[in-house]
Amino acid sequence: MKSISIGILGLGTVGSGVVQILTEHAGLLENRVGAPLRIKRIAGRGEARIPLAPHLYTRDLMEVVRDPEIDIVVELIGGTDIARTACLEALNRGKHLVTANKALLAEHGLEIYRVAAANRVDLGFEASVCGAIPILRSVREGLVGNSIRSIVAIVNGTSNYILSQMTDSGGRYGEMLAEAQAQGYAEADPTLDVDGSDAAHKLQILSSVAFRGYVPFEAIYVEGIQGIDPADIGFARELNCTIKLLAIAKEEGGVLEVRVHPTLIPQSHPLASVGGIYNAVHIVGDSAGPLVFSGLGAGQKPAASSVVADIVEIAHNILFFRPSRSSLLPTNAIESVMRVKPMENVLCRYYLRVTALDSPGVLSAVSHVLAENGISIASMIQKGRAAQAAVPIVMLTHEAVESAMRRALETIDRLEVVAARTVCIRVEGMEE
Ligand code: HSE
Repeated sequence: MKSISIGILGLGTVGSGVVQILTEHAGLLENRVGAPLRIKRIAGRGEARIPLAPHLYTRDLMEVVRDPEIDIVVELIGGTDIARTACLEALNRGKHLVTANKALLAEHGLEIYRVAAANRVDLGFEASVCGAIPILRSVREGLVGNSIRSIVAIVNGTSNYILSQMTDSGGRYGEMLAEAQAQGYAEADPTLDVDGSDAAHKLQILSSVAFRGYVPFEAIYVEGIQGIDPADIGFARELNCTIKLLAIAKEEGGVLEVRVHPTLIPQSHPLASVGGIYNAVHIVGDSAGPLVFSGLGAGQKPAASSVVADIVEIAHNILFFRPSRSSLLPTNAIESVMRVKPMENVLCRYYLRVTALDSPGVLSAVSHVLAENGISIASMIQKGRAAQAAVPIVMLTHEAVESAMRRALETIDRLEVVAARTVCIRVEGMEE
């Protein structure tokens, strides 16, 4: 019986997890595939971290990519430089590719998809979005008969952990980030996690699969969680809400809005109780209605679980369908580019915290600016009395257009009675 030969690039956390699953579950996987899966070569940097037969291991990535016996190359080195070169070389050599590299796909996906299609090979990337959650497979196959209406998702475990800790303990952002790093959740350089870029990479991939058209990465609006203040977490609680970093994609009339930003959601929202390092995707299909998928979005075995699922599907295709089927490639995303609504035109509700002097006429000055810009206040909290000192005025608005809100904020922050920059957080999932 033909065995399927696998070459692995990168023996870090996820790479070691993949080797473990392929080894520990060799018998089970052989049964499910219909042939043995054989690890032919592994390339890594430095000494191998796990015990391996010496002939399996090399420090030269290209030795693996160019090995004529290898059927499937699994790229787990990350980054967009060496990884891109190695992936393109593997595809051009007719090898199927599995990758967990969200930055590579979000920023160079079109090139990678096109080269894979031209070479009639498969490309699996389930592990690039939400770790263990089989979200791409579910959307591509389980929801194939649906037109997707919206995706609202928590796709970055590190920022979800930081916000959950701030909510539970009242701590400040910097302290909770340090705790996430100490726990090993945040990357050594956590910038991509906390500034929203990692979430935007995942949203680019997920929305391109779900809405069946390529979503340009540059078109995604991105804001991170670095500015979230414990005061806003406290006010959100008073409003029966919580703050999450959400990745949002909504389609209307063939135009998509795609955005990542901190968001106020009601406690009753299905994503409100998703805490810690967990990820969750709330997706609405026109026939299926709303669905929620949740699980571990990162970690050795959770990510490796999705990598192995792609290896098995591709092995199955090689054995039974090749070369007529390339089931994993988002061909739709190669053929059409989605139209994206400019952020200035997006309509949503807002939470505002204005820091203003507690003197007569302040409220009417602020509400006058909002009214002038067509923005209507839905509810308001004013705390404390402090003659000649600044106090917070918290408001929830009805739906407003982003450009009107930006204009209003510029004017409000120039008012003499306003003592600090107004905090503005978008709201999701709250009935009008
Ligand atoms: N750094 C990511 C996160 C995990 O915190 O969710 C890998 O995608």
